[in-house]
Amino acid sequence: MNESVQQTLPQHYHRIDQATRESGFTMASDIQTCSLLRTLASTKPGGSFLELGTGTGLSTSWILDGMDQESHLVSVDNDKAVLDIATTYLGNDPRLELVCADGEAWLNANKDMKYDYIFADTWHGKYLMLEEALSMLKKGGLYILDDMLPQPNWPDGHQEKAHKLVAALDARPDLWVTKQHWATGIIIATKK
Ligand SMILES: C[S@@+](CC[C@H](N)C(=O)[O-])C[C@H]1O[C@@H](n2cnc3c(N)ncnc32)[C@H](O)[C@@H]1O
Repeated sequence: MNESVQQTLPQHYHRIDQATRESGFTMASDIQTCSLLRTLASTKPGGSFLELGTGTGLSTSWILDGMDQESHLVSVDNDKAVLDIATTYLGNDPRLELVCADGEAWLNANKDMKYDYIFADTWHGKYLMLEEALSMLKKGGLYILDDMLPQPNWPDGHQEKAHKLVAALDARPDLWVTKQHWATGIIIATKK
């Protein structure tokens, strides 16, 4: 076995990937992580999905690929330029709601919503407002993080923030947490 992704790619993956490269956006999730996101998405038929940090829609395209037709995904980013790429390739999917908003404002305005699956890939819901995001996770719901191993683009001091976040997750009595030294460093937690 190796880590290569041999299965079909999402319909628009190559075009989003090319547009992402052309835009200069360098924060997209890697293909192994995206493959995992799709696999896990398929465990929640009819599910409500939340992605915090859409970027250009690369990870979004994989989550959508794993979702069934009865599922719904809200994906939030505050950068209209990257969201425009996601909208170009994924905006016609009726299961997807792309929201241009600040993560803090969006979480505060939607804290009563409940989700089966949260991919937290921006500050809010991960390093900030963790409690608020986890309170939106249903029992049995999946909370997923990537980029938990040191990355070349981490600013000074970020390593310590990552350690604190992992410790905070490990200490929670309401989660089962699995940490994987794989891809960019993945955490999968489920709500008890
Ligand atoms: C790691 S990238 C997301 C990558 C995306 N999930 C993918 O795999 O392609 C983080 C995203 O968070 C967004 N972001 C940064 N600060 C934000 C904020 N305050 N509110 C909402 N989104 C924010 C950035 O615009 C960026 O697109």
